[in-house]
Amino acid sequence: MTNGFETLAIHAGQEPDPLTGAVVPPIYATSTYKQDGVGGLRSGYEYSRSANPTRTALEEALAAVEGGARGLAFASGLAAEDTLLRTVCKPQDHVIIPNDAYGGTYRLFAKVHERWGLHYDPVPLHDLDAVASAMTQKTKIVWVETPTNPLLGIADIAALAELAHESGALLVVDNTFASPYLQQPLALGADVVVHSTTKYIGGHSDVVGGALVAGDKDLGDELAYHQNAMGAVAGPFDAWLTLRGLKTLGVRMDRHCDNAERVVDLLLAHPRVTQVLYPGLSEHAGHEVAGKQMRRFGGMVSFRVAGGEAEAVQVCDRAKLFTLGESLGGVESLIEHPGRMTHASAAGSPLEVPSDLVRLSVGIETIDDLLADLRQALA
Ligand SMILES: Cc1ncc(COP(=O)(O)O)c(C=O)c1O
Repeated sequence: MTNGFETLAIHAGQEPDPLTGAVVPPIYATSTYKQDGVGGLRSGYEYSRSANPTRTALEEALAAVEGGARGLAFASGLAAEDTLLRTVCKPQDHVIIPNDAYGGTYRLFAKVHERWGLHYDPVPLHDLDAVASAMTQKTKIVWVETPTNPLLGIADIAALAELAHESGALLVVDNTFASPYLQQPLALGADVVVHSTTKYIGGHSDVVGGALVAGDKDLGDELAYHQNAMGAVAGPFDAWLTLRGLKTLGVRMDRHCDNAERVVDLLLAHPRVTQVLYPGLSEHAGHEVAGKQMRRFGGMVSFRVAGGEAEAVQVCDRAKLFTLGESLGGVESLIEHPGRMTHASAAGSPLEVPSDLVRLSVGIETIDDLLADLRQALA
């Protein structure tokens, strides 16, 4: 019998503790493990950089909810991304990245890996011809974010997987915005899923973490080798908090989506809003593809305001219940100005974002309170 998403999120990798029957995996706050004679490891545990039972529980749960062969938990989303790049690529290789991506991901390519000879090209991923013509013999990865941060662009995962595989490249999908509840990239042909578990998976803005889930066991093992060799692992306390968040991902995401849809309706009707970016809208360029590959359209909403950058900044400043802050995916609603905040590192690059853009992470508070706050912030 195959289990449903919520059952996997609550139980996969989380058998009651064999010693006490504790229904929640304990926090194994230990760096090392007693060996039963030289080389006599108990259940494979030796040293907590290599493996820790709390982290193992999270890694197994992540693999299960993404439908992958192996999951790995890292200290942050960027640590996961860095480990993936250094596992798969070497100097003079080439990577295609979205021309609209999280600013920190862009910075990792442009300011860190480029110096070590890993070349990249930002390409509009909705344009399959542009992706095909940017591929070279050295292209090792087509890196996808969908929906993108912060413009909520949509890329066709299945079509891009086919394109990447024709040239022997891997398709990597950053699934942070959708979460595994709304979108399952491995089932659509992707090779590796990346997460900032800091966001919807953690879900409570109380922990920073990252994850990789590989569809193929051999690639998963290679990533695990590098996870240990490079050392950017999630600690046991962080793994435990992330696992606790994962258990309620499904119910939280449904409420995030319900609230986001109501926020979108308010924004569409507001005279000071010039554009609403949400893949659930029929006029959104990626609506059809999003409808094919996502269960619902998510909790992130971006919009542009009349009056340019100054007004966008003022809207952010006037909001009260929508807390002014970076990050996203927590139970509380957040508002930010991407140009000056999350995406400041992309200024002057092909990934620069419009200055009149405001991004919302719609939380799961009482919807009428959220709508009232937006009305007064836009007034
Ligand atoms: C889409 C996306 N990917 C990756 C990251 C990086 O994750 P972390 O901040 O956990 O390193 C972020 C962070 O905001 C993100 O929004």
